Amino acid sequence: MALVTTKDMFAKALKSDYAVGAFNVNNMEIIQGIVEAACQENAPLILQVSAGARKYAKPAYLLKLVEAAVIDTGVDVALHLDHGEDFEICRKCVDDGFTSVMIDGSKHPFEENIRITREVVEYAHAHGVVVEAELGKLAGIEDAVNVDARDATFTVPEEAAEFVEKTGVDSLAVAIGTSHGAYKFKGEPRLDFERLKEIHKLIPDTPLVLHGASTVMPEFVARCNQYGGSIPGAQGVPEEMIKEAAKYGICKVNIDTDLRLAMTAEIRRYIAENPSDFDPRKYLGPARDAIRDMVAHKIKDVLGATDKR
Ligand code: G3H
Ligand code: 13P
Ligand code: ZN
Repeated sequence: MALVTTKDMFAKALKSDYAVGAFNVNNMEIIQGIVEAACQENAPLILQVSAGARKYAKPAYLLKLVEAAVIDTGVDVALHLDHGEDFEICRKCVDDGFTSVMIDGSKHPFEENIRITREVVEYAHAHGVVVEAELGKLAGIEDAVNVDARDATFTVPEEAAEFVEKTGVDSLAVAIGTSHGAYKFKGEPRLDFERLKEIHKLIPDTPLVLHGASTVMPEFVARCNQYGGSIPGAQGVPEEMIKEAAKYGICKVNIDTDLRLAMTAEIRRYIAENPSDFDPRKYLGPARDAIRDMVAHKIKDVLGATDKR
């Protein structure tokens, strides 16, 4: 039992067309729900921490909570920095004991993205830590109707190959039409699978990462709305598309929005149905269970990662 890197997890996933779930964590109940599901499913697991999570919970709390989960369950976990924006935050996380960091240089021009990614790779690898980088901008397909516009937004396959070669990065997040949050598509959900296939063909040994991969599960949106929420028109990536993506090199699937929705739906329901309760454990307990069940469903029915530990 330990904090491990994603190296073995991805090598296995790449060979067998399933994907490892990478779940964003912000507090104890979220961590416990996710880890319980991974144990139940005997699945590999990545817990990831954003800059926002570090600000909310403080780095030491999140680190210790994840370490506690490892001690408590005996399960191996990769602890990953999500969307590190510069060398400094990546360095801090490497020094703190993270086993994986993401340097997100996607907002920079290509050459600058290569430069800062290379810098992080050198530092991280020297400390036994793996690195994810990102190329292209996350946006829905409807915003880029023609090929030129898509090339300006999404990951260009030839650039992906050059980027991986020049940076030595361990995995690459690609932009093929997903986006963060609960409003991913204006019309029919669509991803650029041809582009994904081309990227995978050019760099078949590089594990690819799908950000913005929440399904925005309708039952949780409905429950939020039923109990006083207002989340109209929310739409995510259909489960079938995630399964399809895992066939073309996607080894890591990032999920945060579905955790937020599952937790909020259950808290809203509990509080609405039990107006006289005010013990946080009464509503955080069911919220943790809702996260566990949702994550178990993802691992088993969407990612295909059950018994892949
Ligand atoms: O990539 C975005 C993740 O959902 C993290 O979100 O920055 O609000 O923690 P956050
Ligand atoms: P979602 O907003 O689709 O959950 O994506 C999360 C993510 O990509 C974290 O990096
Ligand atoms: Zn992301």
